[in-house]
Amino acid sequence: MNEIMTENTTMKIQTVAYSRLAEVDFNHIPFGKVFTDHMFQADYYDGAWRDPRIEPFGNLSLSPAISSLHYGQSIFEGMKANRDSEGNALLFRADMNFKRINNSCRRMAIPELPESFFMDGLKTLIKLDKNWIPTSEGSALYLRPFVFATMEHVGVKTADRFKFVIIASPVGPYYGHTVRVKVADHYVRAFRGGTGFAKAAGNYGATLLPMEEAHKEGYDQILWLDGYHFEYIHEIGTMNVFFQVGDTVLTPSTDSGEILPGVTRNSAIQLLKDNGYRVEDRQVKISEIIEAAENNNLKDAFGTGTAAAIAQISSIGYKGKDYILPPVSERSVSNFLKRNLIGIRTGEVADPYGWVEKI
Ligand code: COI
Repeated sequence: MNEIMTENTTMKIQTVAYSRLAEVDFNHIPFGKVFTDHMFQADYYDGAWRDPRIEPFGNLSLSPAISSLHYGQSIFEGMKANRDSEGNALLFRADMNFKRINNSCRRMAIPELPESFFMDGLKTLIKLDKNWIPTSEGSALYLRPFVFATMEHVGVKTADRFKFVIIASPVGPYYGHTVRVKVADHYVRAFRGGTGFAKAAGNYGATLLPMEEAHKEGYDQILWLDGYHFEYIHEIGTMNVFFQVGDTVLTPSTDSGEILPGVTRNSAIQLLKDNGYRVEDRQVKISEIIEAAENNNLKDAFGTGTAAAIAQISSIGYKGKDYILPPVSERSVSNFLKRNLIGIRTGEVADPYGWVEKI
């Protein structure tokens, strides 16, 4: 066991005796099922985050009474690292994920993480497991920081013990194809005053049954609407959503707190605006999107997310009818973002914003 002083943290590091890297078939990596040799951990107790450490990836031993299992006090983040042509590991906009994880912590009554634990944990893990970063098109090292309550108490009460873990997984594309979405008609993902803006575990768990039902009807995902009018578009659950109507790019505003403020969403808006696209970040009604589709004026639709990157939508199912989008070869906005935003992340396109950090 080594004890190292990272930029800001003293961290214990226990490395594996034997790496599993050679066992991985990097030509066929599914999303989120293969994990690197190491993981980062820290614990919160006696009023502070403590004991930052790297250990071999492995099972956690936890009491069945921990409160996150019973009441869902659990949040997470998703990030990606790529490797450039010189072999440097590149991390994309980790500062935004750090801010967002603490916004999620606050909403879920979890003590905020110190920046040094989040950043040093990530970077030390990436450096140790750098050879696990895949380089084929559409692949990346997916980083999954998460925090959950570990207090042993089956009473509904804010916990006083938590665990922060970062695991890493070499991944291929989340969707290897275009996406068919169904507009929500009775289930609701988020509502005013709820947890829609946070990456709370329960936000995702509650969408599994609706998603299963949509899969049976031949759809990949649900396009969520507000729960009061079933009119204002929220997001796709694993992604934010954009539409090109005529010459204008529309994306639902996150101001009401019901939509996750995506890092990829924010980057896409900036990149589009700086390259002469007209972008409207505002409330978007499903009726205006359907009307545009009926008038052949819906030119593009796509989801943005860390895992999904830019996922082009092939059809939108609404009130029993499927509205078909133009072929992907004709999509100027999403193809521009696929080239440039993913290009910046992978180091293939120059980064004028300082979004990418070499680790
Ligand atoms: C991400 O894009 O990182 C997400 O968290 C979406 C999903 C995999 C849960």
